[in-house]
Amino acid sequence: MLIFAHRGASFEAPENTIAAFSKALDAQADGIEIDVYPLEDEWIVFHDRYLARLTAHQGRLQDLTLAQLRTLKVFGQQTIPTLDEVLDYIGGRCHVNIELKGADIKRGLTRHLRRAVAQANFQPEQLIVSSFNHHWLAQLKHDHPQQLIGALTTSCPLTYAQFAQTLQAWSVHIDVDFVTQEFVDDAHQRGLKVLVFTVDEPDDMRDLKAMGVDGIFTNHPSLARNVISGLFV
Ligand code: G3P
Ligand code: MG
Repeated sequence: MLIFAHRGASFEAPENTIAAFSKALDAQADGIEIDVYPLEDEWIVFHDRYLARLTAHQGRLQDLTLAQLRTLKVFGQQTIPTLDEVLDYIGGRCHVNIELKGADIKRGLTRHLRRAVAQANFQPEQLIVSSFNHHWLAQLKHDHPQQLIGALTTSCPLTYAQFAQTLQAWSVHIDVDFVTQEFVDDAHQRGLKVLVFTVDEPDDMRDLKAMGVDGIFTNHPSLARNVISGLFV
């Protein structure tokens, strides 16, 4: 079962910052999950549309200039990184799941991914683009058929994972509150990987492993590593 550090090892360091990604690598996470918004000609790694929860600034991310945004600190400590900075930092050492939050994918997302393969030691299959907005994923897949995509859901649909197969996704990412054995089996029969978010409790980690899920997103990758390997009982 793959362990993706959700927003990095965000139990230990400010979420979606280089400090959290460093902790994720220390924990030997198989991947990191990051959230991204386009801003000017960059993609910004940040979870919220509004800045107030994580920085001293009020208002929306999209209303700042890139220069203004770069002066902010997450929890007064860490700068807000760009996608390029994160990909350069990881340098192919683990998978990166890039979750599109506010997206205009025509703003060169794939240019950044190609750059990571050409200059930052990534294999194309290490980069997964996911979103709750399935229209964005469909457009991305149409324009770039080789790109691995992950279809997110917070529900267990009547037709289970059919929507992800329709999208030609590599994986379906489902909320831990709604994943069932029937959903996992259906997704596997369709040739899809099943990744579950956000899983921080040992009991859930064990149950999901027994269900045969392919991976979890967790804020606590070192705990997950110990639970999955049987070191934490
Ligand atoms: O990608 C899984 C998970 O991150 C989706 O929810 O709100 O934590 O970005 P959220
Ligand atoms: Mg996310």
